[in-house]
Amino acid sequence: MDLSFGGFGVEIGRVACVGVGTIGHGWATLFAMKGLEVNLYDVEPSKLEWALRRIEANLEFLASRDYIESGTVSRALGKLKSFKSLEEAVRDVEYIQESAYESYSVKRGLFRRIDGVAPRSAIIATSSSGLLMSEIQKATSNPDRCIVVHPWNPPHLIPLVELVPGDMTSEETVKRAYSFMERLGKVPVVLRKEVPGYIGNRLQVAVWREALDLVDRGVASLEDVEKALYAGPGIRWAFMGSNLTLHLGGGEGGLKYLIEHLGGKYSEYWRDMAKWTSIPDSAAEKAVEGIKEMELVKSKSFQELIEWRDEKLIALLKLLYK
Ligand SMILES: NC(=O)c1ccc[n+]([C@@H]2O[C@H](COP(=O)([O-])OP(=O)(O)OC[C@H]3O[C@@H](n4cnc5c(N)ncnc54)[C@H](O)[C@@H]3O)[C@@H](O)[C@H]2O)c1
Repeated sequence: MDLSFGGFGVEIGRVACVGVGTIGHGWATLFAMKGLEVNLYDVEPSKLEWALRRIEANLEFLASRDYIESGTVSRALGKLKSFKSLEEAVRDVEYIQESAYESYSVKRGLFRRIDGVAPRSAIIATSSSGLLMSEIQKATSNPDRCIVVHPWNPPHLIPLVELVPGDMTSEETVKRAYSFMERLGKVPVVLRKEVPGYIGNRLQVAVWREALDLVDRGVASLEDVEKALYAGPGIRWAFMGSNLTLHLGGGEGGLKYLIEHLGGKYSEYWRDMAKWTSIPDSAAEKAVEGIKEMELVKSKSFQELIEWRDEKLIALLKLLYK
């Protein structure tokens, strides 16, 4: 599919965020700071108040770190509108980002209702972390406009979005969602086949399984396993993936040399690595205890940890994405 051109159909200027928890309020922060009109809806009315407070705090934090201009804070806040009715929230928008619970029945129900009232040209996207769009869009009369647009937490900062069309999603929907995400400054990737967990989460949980297992087997403390990831391979993964990393590790012969001459060594690692498909109780217990014992976790509140993370992310984003 040629994605090198954009500007398809209706220009997106008004959006709705359906479900404004951790992910939905992050999307709303991003949409509003990019100047879009943002309708907010949540089944839990108290969540709307919470989201408005969090969005304001996000924007003030970004301005205090010179990530956005200070005038953007009030301009963005002026773009937000809360709704008590789902139908009212989506009636007049060009793009809907659903971020409710990760369940087929919840998402099918919402997609069916949204599809019944949203303008025909509107895209209906879900933030789902791994559900299949082919299963969700069956609930709608216009499945061509339904797509997964999977963000990474926090959506207003992490560049990646994974676009996952279902069997009945149209090419135009993929192209419009792609150019919309590019316009927002995101880094979109498109899956050519649906797989549970898409790309990023599969990679993430493959590494996580091994990290949990190393701790469970007593190979190292959780704190040292964390360090071995972020201070080693992880620091390079912020700007190149594992193939380019290893290509550069193969010397002049690159990845081909590495596979031919060193790849065999990895078989020994792979044979010894974790292969379980549900987290053993002992691994879960040690991980939960290990996190509590981390120096950083002991020294900060949860909200302070979020600020610590976002401060680092902003510094990295400024460096890598200008
Ligand atoms: N948390 C993450 O790191 C992450 C990352 C990427 C994607 N996601 C995906 O984003 C979605 C939301 O996850 P979250 O972590 O924000 O969850 P969350 O529990 O923080 O928020 C979910 C929100 O949806 C609301 N909700 C539930 N049912 C609803 C309905 N029928 N109509 C409207 N609102 C409803 C809830 O009241 C809640 O405010 C999930 O599909 C999840 O897989 C999560």
